[in-house]
Amino acid sequence: MQVPAHVAIIMDGNGRWAKSKGLPRTAGHVKGAANIYDMLHVADAMGIKYMTVYAFSTENWKRSQDEVMALMNLFRQYFKKSFEESKKNNVRIRVIGDKTALPDDLRDLIDEMEEFSKDFTGMQVQIALNYGSRDELRRAVTKIASEVKEGKLNPEDITEELISSHLDTAGIPDPDLLIRTSGEQRLSNYLLWQLAYTEFYYTDTHWPAFDKAELEKAIEWYNTRDRRYGNAKE
Ligand code: IPE
Ligand code: IPE
Ligand code: MG
Repeated sequence: MQVPAHVAIIMDGNGRWAKSKGLPRTAGHVKGAANIYDMLHVADAMGIKYMTVYAFSTENWKRSQDEVMALMNLFRQYFKKSFEESKKNNVRIRVIGDKTALPDDLRDLIDEMEEFSKDFTGMQVQIALNYGSRDELRRAVTKIASEVKEGKLNPEDITEELISSHLDTAGIPDPDLLIRTSGEQRLSNYLLWQLAYTEFYYTDTHWPAFDKAELEKAIEWYNTRDRRYGNAKE
């Protein structure tokens, strides 16, 4: 079986999972956050090199203040734990998205954690936090425009590669497989540029219940696809 080099996941359905168990939505987020570690270990053991997971979108600020606050607290806890986890497993962790809009202490924690894990050579994990693909493209266009204005770049130099290199995912190969849990089949502003040639897999399982067997099912499905382009398979 061929294992995709890069798997992107839209971790959806925390709220519905909690509701199905008669629990508050935040209990779904707690279980969902814990599941990220479990699934990273599973993916690592399977030989997946890159994982990019959607944790909080630019649109998610519109949720209730209580829910947003609970999520920010969960991210704080998550990143505090990530130092030990990344060291133990040789995992590099990066955040994609606009970090400037995050609470100061959370942003500092993320900066520290990215610096701490930057030389780890095992699995490469990207956590999309305050991420929106249109916002990412807007920020990239702003950077490119400034470079042109400063005379560092000519308009003719703007190639696809140059655009890619100005995105938050610079240097990371495009995903081979996208998984969205919990039944929805929309992109919700995720990796619009990077998913140009990615296979899309959907499952009704809610993210907190997504496990090893589910990931194996997705990869088996991926193996039934006839791919001409994309990253080289192993
Ligand atoms: C995904 O679960 C987690 C985040 C968006 C933070 P949801 O919170 O979207 O759960 P549902 O879709 O309401 O069930
Ligand atoms: C997408 O899920 C964002 C994350 C998983 C973090 P949402 O639940 O926020 O997306 P919509 O609202 O269904 O499009
Ligand atoms: Mg949702």
